Amino acid sequence: MIQTIKTTPYTDQKMGTAGLRKKSKVVMQKHYIENFVQSIFDVIGDLKGKTYVLGGDGRFYNDIAIQKIIKMAAANGISKLVIGQNGFLSTPASSNIILKNKLDGGFVLSASHNPGGENGDFGIKYANQSGGQCPSSTSDAIYKRTLAISEFKICDVPDIDLSKLGKQTVCGMEIEIIDPVEDYVEMMERIFDFSAIKKLFANGFTMCFDAMNAVTGPYAKRIFEEILGASKGSVVNAVPLPDFGGLHPDPNLIYAKELVNLMYSDKSPDFGGANDGDGDRNMILGHKFFVTPSDSLAILTDNFDLIPAYKAGIFGVAKSAATSTAVGRVAKAHNIGYYEVPTGWKYFVNLMDSKRITFCGEESFGTGSAHIREKDGIWAILFWLNIIAVTGKSVEQITREHWQKYGRSYYMRFDFEGISTDVADQLMADLEAKLPSLNGKDYGIYHISEAAPFVYHDPVDNSETKNGLIIKFSDGSRIVYRLSGTGSSGATLRVYLEKYETKKLNEEPLEMLKDILAIAMEIAEVPSRTGKQKADVIT
Ligand code: G1P
Ligand code: ZN
Repeated sequence: MIQTIKTTPYTDQKMGTAGLRKKSKVVMQKHYIENFVQSIFDVIGDLKGKTYVLGGDGRFYNDIAIQKIIKMAAANGISKLVIGQNGFLSTPASSNIILKNKLDGGFVLSASHNPGGENGDFGIKYANQSGGQCPSSTSDAIYKRTLAISEFKICDVPDIDLSKLGKQTVCGMEIEIIDPVEDYVEMMERIFDFSAIKKLFANGFTMCFDAMNAVTGPYAKRIFEEILGASKGSVVNAVPLPDFGGLHPDPNLIYAKELVNLMYSDKSPDFGGANDGDGDRNMILGHKFFVTPSDSLAILTDNFDLIPAYKAGIFGVAKSAATSTAVGRVAKAHNIGYYEVPTGWKYFVNLMDSKRITFCGEESFGTGSAHIREKDGIWAILFWLNIIAVTGKSVEQITREHWQKYGRSYYMRFDFEGISTDVADQLMADLEAKLPSLNGKDYGIYHISEAAPFVYHDPVDNSETKNGLIIKFSDGSRIVYRLSGTGSSGATLRVYLEKYETKKLNEEPLEMLKDILAIAMEIAEVPSRTGKQKADVIT
């Protein structure tokens, strides 16, 4: 029943910031998935006795890819696969299953927050036994293997019924279909004060959670409505759809429009939250109020002792270099470790495993803790609800009090999309070459105190990673430039701006950042090189 099939390599199977991410049509090419998955298996080596978790966010091609992977896993001698019912598993739930059951790793079929459908994107994230995405050394080895692959193994069996819970055997390999939600809920109950949050809802607190027609719908329904008692209908867009109902499942002010409009209306609920396609990103809103992810990380960290699981103390906190420095001030005040890492969740994993950090986050709507090795969208929302339940304060009040205590980092990200790769690479190379000459330069009231590439030395495995270019000003303001590593075509230049204020706490971010924006555009020659006067997406 095991077939060995000849194949020819693709040259574009290099993993980016978060796994392999491509246009669905690319992934649908003959043997594309097979080549990639076989390359992973080849790099892992001996698969006997190994168990992996498998599931996805339900997007278009999830059902086809999952059948291929099951049949290939069996043919390659994997002992067991744990699979989410109907092929569904959120990224955080998958990480939890790896850690809880001490599995060897897993596969999440998702392009995260990218749109789905035949004309959208598809992707595969490969996690190892850490519960997090494999390190760059492994993804490099896998990429190398994809370039040389000449055959793959697959079992010639009919498609497997993934709807029935329980165990079955496929081509000699055990598979166990599990409820994707159950273990995750148990974990959340252990971390947070569910009875306090239940009381909050019983006393009339209202929320709207937008699952964006993606994987978190069933998780959110069970947790917020059924267990915590939020009123029926609090979870919207709750049924995962292959094309996410046409939504771009990225929880930010632009793509989660429906929720944002509701929260900025006079009759909004008290709390608004959204997750992305695979459930690892989150957005937090109050009545007519938005919390930036950078502030959210700082606020959660500052309030760790309100949460049962963290009461005894936390190790430290980390953020990606592009994220605002707000959490750094909190770390200093609490005298805990503080780390800045390259963009991509995998860089947090070593810090968590070595007990250097408990919390971490990215400006791109990612927040999480060492309970798993991925960011966790529902976790972040429960954290906020727990703080609100204990303090009795609103989202806005909590945030404003935080600014009063620590000052405010005005922060925005500007994305220049669809640039040709050559233009983008040249822009970054020329900018990097120019950085030394910028040191000490003045731009109006802004004085550059340091201009350098961001280089991360991992304190655990001593690896070195370069990611982005940073310009620091003497007043604490910063510009960070980097190219996206998650796009499925062309290049996206991201420009991150930050300005620190201790007195002017209630200004419009764009107003506060407009001078730094002009400096950022000028220094990198963005308009002349890209033909763009303005960013395509501002978050
Ligand atoms: C983007 C975000 C990054 C995040 C990644 C995966 O990557 O910027 O913070 O880890 O998605 O969710 P980028 O496209 O910038 O490489
Ligand atoms: Zn995601």
